[in-house]
Amino acid sequence: MKAIILAGGSGSRLYPLTQVSSKQLQAVFDKPMIYYPLTILIAAGVREICLISTPLDLPRFQQLLGDGAHWGVSIQYREQARPEGIGQAFLIAEDFVGNDNVVLMLGDNIFSGGDDFPRSMAEFQGGATIFAYRVKDPERYGVVEFDRDGKALSIEEKPAAPRSNFAVPGIYIYDNRVLEIAKSLHPSARGELEITDINRAYMEQGQLQVHRLSRGFAWLDAGTSTSLQEASSYIEAIERRQGIKIGCPEEAALVRGFLSLAKFDALVQQMPKCQYREYLVTVADETRKLRG
Ligand code: G1P
Repeated sequence: MKAIILAGGSGSRLYPLTQVSSKQLQAVFDKPMIYYPLTILIAAGVREICLISTPLDLPRFQQLLGDGAHWGVSIQYREQARPEGIGQAFLIAEDFVGNDNVVLMLGDNIFSGGDDFPRSMAEFQGGATIFAYRVKDPERYGVVEFDRDGKALSIEEKPAAPRSNFAVPGIYIYDNRVLEIAKSLHPSARGELEITDINRAYMEQGQLQVHRLSRGFAWLDAGTSTSLQEASSYIEAIERRQGIKIGCPEEAALVRGFLSLAKFDALVQQMPKCQYREYLVTVADETRKLRG
């Protein structure tokens, strides 16, 4: 399974923060936003990742993440010249996806809790799998209705009158047919290739599986100044309470076996003295104890 992270857009709702830096590079408590989706993918065992961003922002992502080798993964980069919708990701990254199945993650979606994503990716058999999360304001999102078996019954993009309270978060698992479906899309009224139209195409073939995220799961939005601040506070509260970090790619790579302890130690040694480094030192010590 390969993965695409879409980190484009102008971030206009975060103005003036986004005047000189991409939305997905803003801080969510103690690390850049992009670390969170990246960590989800690494924790799920994905090794081949393609990051899509604007021509202006791409060099910054490259500076931050490099080719991924230091985390035992491979990160490629592609440009989205104009923000023409999430569905465009599959046109841009077609050669990267090749003949594989693919996960698409939006770079501004932050999750915490549960093993729903790794499990869904491991169990994926084909078609499409999306997730459903209960929210108070579904009209801001893609909204899905589904039956007891998780078969999608309807899916709509930001409907004025939502048919359910279940929003569709920005993580989607597709078989390779997504490449063909993306090519057949037409721009919506807002001029974008809509991810919801891709999902609807799978639904019409009876191939859209919906996995409901459990109550304890947190899905945070970081698209406005207020929600960005709320996301930071949430992450801070959990990290301080538990003494663990959310969205730490180095740790995920170690746990997943992408990095040996020796490589992990070497990586930590290169970091400046800071809380992030101190945390990774404790992770290494605990891992050494566990592994004996
Ligand atoms: C996009 C999708 C929407 C999804 C949301 C998740 O919305 O179009 O279906 O629920 O991401 O973050 P947008 O960010 O374009 O408003």
